[in-house]
Amino acid sequence: MAIMAAACSPKSGVAPAIPVDKDVEAKVESVLKKMTLKEKAGQMVQLSIDTITDDTKPEIDPVKLEKIIGEYKVGSILNLLKDVSLSREGTAAFVRQIQDKSMELIGIPCIYGLDMIHGASYLTDGSLYPQEINLGATFNRDYPRMMGEALAYETRAAQVAWVFSPVMDLGRDPRWPRHWESWGEDPYLQAEMARSETEAIQGADPNHIDLEHAAVSIKHYMGYGVPHTGKDRTPAYIALNDLREKYFRPFKECLQAGALTVMVNSASINGIPTHANKELLTGWAKEELNWDGLIVTDWADINNLYTRDHVAADKREAVAMGINAGIDMIMEPYDPECVNIIVDLAESGDIPMSRIDDAVRRILRLKVRLGLFDNPSWDYDYKDFGCQRFADESYAAALESEVLLKNEGGILPLKGTERILVTGPNANSMRTLNGGWSYTWQGDADTFASDHNTILEAIRNRFPNVKYVPAIEYDQEWGKWEKEHVTGISEAVAAARTCDVVIACVGENTYCETPGNMNDLNLSANQKDLVKALAATGKPIILVLNEGRPRIIGDIEPLVKAVVDVMLPSNYGGDALAALLSGDENFSGKLPFTYSKHINSLHTYDYKVSEHNETMAGSYNYDAIMDVQWPFGHGLSYTTFEYSDLKVSANDFSAGDVLKVSVKVANTGSRTGKEAVLLYSSDIVASLIPDVKRLRGFEKISLAPGESKVVEFEVPAKELAFVGADGKWRLEKGEFRLSCGGQAAMVNCLETKVWDTPNI
Ligand code: BGC
Repeated sequence: MAIMAAACSPKSGVAPAIPVDKDVEAKVESVLKKMTLKEKAGQMVQLSIDTITDDTKPEIDPVKLEKIIGEYKVGSILNLLKDVSLSREGTAAFVRQIQDKSMELIGIPCIYGLDMIHGASYLTDGSLYPQEINLGATFNRDYPRMMGEALAYETRAAQVAWVFSPVMDLGRDPRWPRHWESWGEDPYLQAEMARSETEAIQGADPNHIDLEHAAVSIKHYMGYGVPHTGKDRTPAYIALNDLREKYFRPFKECLQAGALTVMVNSASINGIPTHANKELLTGWAKEELNWDGLIVTDWADINNLYTRDHVAADKREAVAMGINAGIDMIMEPYDPECVNIIVDLAESGDIPMSRIDDAVRRILRLKVRLGLFDNPSWDYDYKDFGCQRFADESYAAALESEVLLKNEGGILPLKGTERILVTGPNANSMRTLNGGWSYTWQGDADTFASDHNTILEAIRNRFPNVKYVPAIEYDQEWGKWEKEHVTGISEAVAAARTCDVVIACVGENTYCETPGNMNDLNLSANQKDLVKALAATGKPIILVLNEGRPRIIGDIEPLVKAVVDVMLPSNYGGDALAALLSGDENFSGKLPFTYSKHINSLHTYDYKVSEHNETMAGSYNYDAIMDVQWPFGHGLSYTTFEYSDLKVSANDFSAGDVLKVSVKVANTGSRTGKEAVLLYSSDIVASLIPDVKRLRGFEKISLAPGESKVVEFEVPAKELAFVGADGKWRLEKGEFRLSCGGQAAMVNCLETKVWDTPNI
């Protein structure tokens, strides 16, 4: 039947990842059959807003618009103008003009896409939430859901129906400048949080997205977060079993939950640029999962196949390579001639017409699912835009995401009567609380969020006796995020002598993507010097880390009494920190990544058992010792929790069983507190060196003093499987250890099972 025709052939017996809707398919076919080749090629190209705007002001140039839509028949536009941020109304006005022209000239709605990374973060009046790394630290699935709902609602209010979110790169290398865009280093945590956000953004039915929801583009498919050099957009080398087990699995979960589009990893895996990797694009995503969504390139990445990666000789070859590998839409972003290249490739047979039609079907299907044919633009009362509820949720998320890493002698909470010195380059900045993708690409919250409180302002609002000396300031020039100006370390030291406690706010200035590359993960020498000079006064120091990646602080950590990592908590992060420091609120965040201590030993918590090996027989020291600053899952509270009674429903199990695990958690301290309860498994003996442990479940609970709760987890036994060297999932006979909060139980797998299907 024509309706189902596709250039890829799903593996037989695999249920569609997104249910097939006959009406949607019929509409797609009726449009497709009327289209010329040029119109089809135009749908496959996405251009940047710059191609249709005036060069001097943020306004659409009608002549350029007419040409791009009328002549080139381009089907999608993205982005904001560099450093120009617009309000909801401003954005809506842009998009309405594009839609009117598109319907008038080609009768097909355009689809506009924006990077809404932590809330409607590209609108001057949007609601911003803490960045994904912070939501990871909450270990609370409610927050990605809340953020996803608000983000979709407010984006849709700006007449935009497609968001390039959530980010699903595993943050397993802290050198990488996009570490903070991830949910942390663990695949299970990432899958749970990203699925929750995906479902919230798209709503209940991916075939019929309503006017309060939008389409996601989960990104960047896949393995983007572990470049060999630590530098953005450079090659990764990932063993194939790891690729399937840790990197693909979370994407699979989101695709099967209905994610409508996927954006591709800009770089390469094992020497193959991901944009040219037919096995991963067409094979794993489209065929194995019978997934009928759309694959879009990342920014200019087809061009990178010849300009950067040298796997194609020229643009024509690069375009053919990408589309034949499974790319449906090219984020060009500046050259509309790409449309004519696609036409030529189709006419010459270098791209089969069946592949062109398959790609265009996927694009049209997205537009139909979003209702864009019926409503290219829409009138709807978005009365909750910018509402207090979104702000309250953002504050609550910030509270649960800031992590208390050290609290020697119970210096925190502060009594409130202390004379406090606030110092450091991150103390008085909205920009650093938000990070990149905030109003503008590189982050400009100082301009657009100045009505919110910086850390300094929030501390002043809560404590009566506060002095401020910045001591070091960041350069504000574009692209100079690493540059610092030392303005008064000795002044800060003098002020510290007159105070009882010092709050030193250090970390990083904002950056986004490749401009955030750097050569040294250590906290900057200036900032370390500041902490050392302050410590010499003998005054107790509370170190506040406001940073997108865990900068190494091994040498200064012993000098301070307390450490709080606020990461990038957004507009209410300063208020949340002040409430936590004062003890009006309690800490409950836990690290979603390993905080490394040594520059040459960057670890993840799920290291291979053989990576920790102190001394072998005799006295040979292997010097392979796990010595981290703080492990994954670490985070303190003002109260204490005691775990007991870990029980598992069965001692023996087989692949089809579901293990029920319960554990009792009691609040044994004197304050109410929230606790993220984390369940791990360890495969004791396996045919590949096993990971020391893996996260298999998490729940966030709240307990009053003296209260206890039994937390229950259901772990399907197949979740304990791993991918073997042959690429097959296997659950092997033998012992497994299930552990939670210091409690543990051994269980026994009765027989080995190896799956023949690529996914389980
Ligand atoms: C980034 C993507 C982003 C795209 C569009 C690229 O440079 O890597 O994450 O979605 O630009 O703005």
